[in-house]
Amino acid sequence: MVKIDLGGCSSFVKDADYIEFEKKALEAFDTLQAENGAGNDFLGWKDLPVDTPESLISDCEAVRDDWKARGVDLVIVIGIGGSYLGARCAIEALSHPFIRKDGVPQIVFAGNNLSEDYIADVMDLARERNTACVVISKSGTTTEPAVAFRIVKSYLEERYGAAEAACRIVAITDAVKGALKTLATQEGYRTFVVPDNVGGRYSVLTPVGILPIVLAGIDIRAMLKGAADERAEVYSRSSDNAAVKYAAMRNLLYSAYGKKVEILVSFNPRFQYLCEWWKQLYGESEGKEGKGIYPASVIFTTDLHSMGQFIQEGDRVMFETVVNVENARRSVVIGSDTQNLDQLNYLAGKHVEHCNAMAQLGTKLAHIDGGVPQIGLSIDKVDEYNLGALFFFFEFACGISAYVLGINPFNQPGVEAYKKNMFALLRKPGFEKQTEEILKRI
Ligand code: PA5
Repeated sequence: MVKIDLGGCSSFVKDADYIEFEKKALEAFDTLQAENGAGNDFLGWKDLPVDTPESLISDCEAVRDDWKARGVDLVIVIGIGGSYLGARCAIEALSHPFIRKDGVPQIVFAGNNLSEDYIADVMDLARERNTACVVISKSGTTTEPAVAFRIVKSYLEERYGAAEAACRIVAITDAVKGALKTLATQEGYRTFVVPDNVGGRYSVLTPVGILPIVLAGIDIRAMLKGAADERAEVYSRSSDNAAVKYAAMRNLLYSAYGKKVEILVSFNPRFQYLCEWWKQLYGESEGKEGKGIYPASVIFTTDLHSMGQFIQEGDRVMFETVVNVENARRSVVIGSDTQNLDQLNYLAGKHVEHCNAMAQLGTKLAHIDGGVPQIGLSIDKVDEYNLGALFFFFEFACGISAYVLGINPFNQPGVEAYKKNMFALLRKPGFEKQTEEILKRI
């Protein structure tokens, strides 16, 4: 379960202020649970940990087994934003970073950018390997994945023939609408549905995350169990509720103490994409109407040698939220050396993780001394169960937090602005007027 420690904030905030924000967070909790707040038609994510049918998981396993029988050793997962980051987060956190397991395909991601170099590099790999593709877009109309998919689809058809290519493509999209749905029906692809009432950034426990996670050989049942247990935990209305406390403290630091930036910190490089997933969740949910905490992230100790200076002594606009992992998955002990030329014998017999823990404690004290409040979140270890718990914890806390801020956490109106300009510049049919206007500006 996710535990919270607000001790690293106590020297920065007044108790009375915290109590006021705890009250606001409990009211926001009530709104989220009564399902009568802004965006309440997008609350399907709340039940995913307990409602996901076994048949969905077996359908995903059937794709895995079918592709295994075809010898597939590379799956290109195409998607962007919420149709990408959850799966990548889980796969990067839970797979060996350097060695692929026997019988498990390599997963690479595409359609999350418009770089020609990037897609060309992906296609270099596709040509060398036995390739299949999962294309994910809830709307079915997003340009980045659509462009990547056109390229991958055409390559698969040329290489394997249309019928075999169709067996090597799975589409995850809306049940009825969107270009991807039409295309998938026409081409006879296997499809999975993104539920209407789940927004992209809350969709990791729908087929959007589940299929890539299953293909990567990760235990999705354990992840759902972790999410379900965390759900039971954060559903209890209490001032001890970790999600309520997190939402209360981050809003207090933002509103009353000018802390406009929250840095998510992990001392485990496997959590790099947890940070990316979290940044989208909080950034897209809260950054509206001229409000919101700017979500940033660092991986320590790596970034102590780059961003550490700024966090210690730069503009005091930030607080940290540290995701602490209590136990390492592996055991590596530092040896003794008779010559001790590197002068490290004082660490002989110590686990590397012990050094990491001391770095973490030392950093906490230094940053608090430097004026950076610290919220601590802890999990037992990096595994399916705890990652599932973290997913649900952050989603639930985000709903509470955005309601404290007075924001609809489930829309993203601002994402459209760049698209209109891009379509005008690309001369998309229907955008002629905007093209004329935009050409005057450049
Ligand atoms: O959270 C969101 O809603 C967005 O990040 C979307 O997931 C992203 O824009 C991709 O959209 P789609 O799945 O419709 O292609």
